[in-house]
Amino acid sequence: MINKDKNNTPVKLSSKHLLGIENLNSDEMLNLIERSDHFANLITKDRNQINTNNFSSILSGKTIINLFFESSTRTRVSFEVACKKLGGSVLNISVSGSSVKKGETLIDTATTLNAMNPDILVIRHHAAGAPLLLSKFIDASVINAGDGRHEHPTQALLDALTIKRRFGKIAGLNISICGDIANSRVARSNMYLLGSLGANLCLVSPSTLLPSKIENFGFPIFNDLEEGIHNADIVMMLRLQKERFQGKEIPSQHEYYNLFGLDNKKLKKSAPNALIMHPGPMNRGVEIDSITADDDERSLITTQVEMGVATRMACLEAIIQNRVL
Ligand code: CP
Repeated sequence: MINKDKNNTPVKLSSKHLLGIENLNSDEMLNLIERSDHFANLITKDRNQINTNNFSSILSGKTIINLFFESSTRTRVSFEVACKKLGGSVLNISVSGSSVKKGETLIDTATTLNAMNPDILVIRHHAAGAPLLLSKFIDASVINAGDGRHEHPTQALLDALTIKRRFGKIAGLNISICGDIANSRVARSNMYLLGSLGANLCLVSPSTLLPSKIENFGFPIFNDLEEGIHNADIVMMLRLQKERFQGKEIPSQHEYYNLFGLDNKKLKKSAPNALIMHPGPMNRGVEIDSITADDDERSLITTQVEMGVATRMACLEAIIQNRVL
């Protein structure tokens, strides 16, 4: 059931962990987006010094640990800001300064941290399935902050929130997800989320950057950017993830940009007022032109970052509520 007073109650999840969008049902997805919207409104009121419901005690006495085995700016910092806004304590573990560098295994590192009784472990790891593995070994709740090519659930939720706030809906929108789909956990989570919520998705990529069995998702696939964004309401660009390449997936960055880089000329093929999204970090001049990315009228990229805090507040609250119930 969707919450009756949809914004004003914490979301109830069926799991104590948030490992992926694939594990959520559509009510859980919708409720998390509605609750994130509620927090986004409260943050705005707070900034404008309008009296708000106090949200600063939701995580009082709770501790989250950010354990990031891959670099991050947006996700790590927004989890930290979200936790602090909710009154919790947050510890950031830098892998380069931890015993991982001395050869400690992932499970030994996690069980060591777990012995200090955190409530939530937020993990980013290069291996798909690492958060699921840890969830079987530790008492703390686990939130997946991105695992290999698998999922990035909180990114998809913040993307959905950004879309919902701008368009007032998700169902029925034409959304083209474009670029390095093979290596993108953001694309996979968004396929589960936006697809479940009724968006008309299509995928645009060179065939060398499509994962095997992608056709099983059932979305139209294009190998030509201008064809793939035809009539799109939203053009969602993806970062070219060269660090995950296994061979010569593209002839050169220059050629990739010519064919698959978004610029204002190619954007003319989309719907007249189409908006642009990108999860960041961007490779300017590789998958997107700077003039297009920085166009305040059409780019939602900064709003996506802003919505990250509200979304992670909703996710942290839901996980904590699940632990106390
Ligand atoms: N979108 C995203 O995950 O960005 P970071 O790598 O900076 O966290």
